[in-house]
Amino acid sequence: MIEPHGGKLINRIVLDSKRDELLVKAVKMPKLVLSKRDLTEAENIATGLYSPLTGFMNEEDYNSVLEEMRLADGTVWTIPVVLGVSRQEAEQLVIGTDVALTGKSGRIYAILHLEDKFQPDKKREAELVYKTRDETHPGVANLYRRGEVLLGGTISMLNRIEHKLFNQYRVDPAQVRKDFAARGWKRVVGFQTRNPIHRAHEYLQKCALEITDGLFLSPLVGETKSTDIPVEYRIESYEVVMDKIYPPSRVYLAVFPAAMRYAGPREAIFHALCRKNYGCTHFIVGRDHAGVGDYYGTYEAQEIFDQFKDEEIGITPLRFEYSFYCTKCESMATSKTCPHDKKFHIGLSGTRVRAMLREGKRPPKEMTRPEVADVLIRGMAAASSTTATKQ
Ligand code: ADX
Repeated sequence: MIEPHGGKLINRIVLDSKRDELLVKAVKMPKLVLSKRDLTEAENIATGLYSPLTGFMNEEDYNSVLEEMRLADGTVWTIPVVLGVSRQEAEQLVIGTDVALTGKSGRIYAILHLEDKFQPDKKREAELVYKTRDETHPGVANLYRRGEVLLGGTISMLNRIEHKLFNQYRVDPAQVRKDFAARGWKRVVGFQTRNPIHRAHEYLQKCALEITDGLFLSPLVGETKSTDIPVEYRIESYEVVMDKIYPPSRVYLAVFPAAMRYAGPREAIFHALCRKNYGCTHFIVGRDHAGVGDYYGTYEAQEIFDQFKDEEIGITPLRFEYSFYCTKCESMATSKTCPHDKKFHIGLSGTRVRAMLREGKRPPKEMTRPEVADVLIRGMAAASSTTATKQ
């Protein structure tokens, strides 16, 4: 089985009598109320999804990640994993002490062993991580909303976060690794997505499955920008293909509980490293992976892998060109395999597809399977009725 990033799967989940002991102590600690997004980051550290991270980054790691795309010890890491708080909150906390991290209800989820407090330059972070300072970029907008001061330190998780949705697909990296081993899978390809499944996705997944033992479908269920299709319907689209299109013995579905950053190339590396922690040996990187708007080049998220030695990344990127259905080839193809003119290619923009779905129309079956289209038509209707109620 492939090693986790950094060599060891981190486990910061405290159990049994040690947990009881810490819970009693935590009641008396200063409290910090975290958003669901930040609590989830703490949990992702604790379960080892972000191995080798054991906590929120200190200033040294943060600067090194920004400038070098590595942690201070040289391990490749491209995305800051940080906890931002207000200046007033930070002033009340003392370095070297423990802080209880709670949800809005006051329930204690974790302890932060506070090692560092520092004020980052957000514009510099925006420039280096997102390649833009534009606040209309959703990742940059989120960064600008974040608290001014960052708290660094290891995490001890005492209570897991409760979820209403997808509990059957919430599987920790340690368990996924066991399940891969039980299935006898040696080569496993991971697939990241923030969208419902379409035929181009299916094509990449099936090409990759042809040269591996198993396909690990890893749809992201953390925060996404509001114009993305609602998460319930994205997951339902996967349930449909799992049920009707894919051989169950070759496919494993588990949700990826992180927020989208839309950081393109840097996020592609991050996505790959997290899937390595789940036990994947290969990772699909297609066109404009984790991109948004025109901020990144079409294949920049593939090219960034060339800046590192293969062994530093550990998981093998499978690079795919833009894929489409060609009526002359009578199959899915890319410019590598199809010699025909563009007029034979079936392709509609995402905006057009969404407009069709809103009107209750199925997009061409060569783009979206009819059974998936029906789920998305329902999804769009639900999304617009929620927006209408909100207004
Ligand atoms: S992402 O933000 O999670 O990357 P999306 O769900 O659209 O967005 O894409 C999932 C993966 O499929 C990414 O690796 C992306 O590059 C790839 N991909 C999506 N559509 C295509 C396409 N038509 N051709 C090639 N790759 C694609």
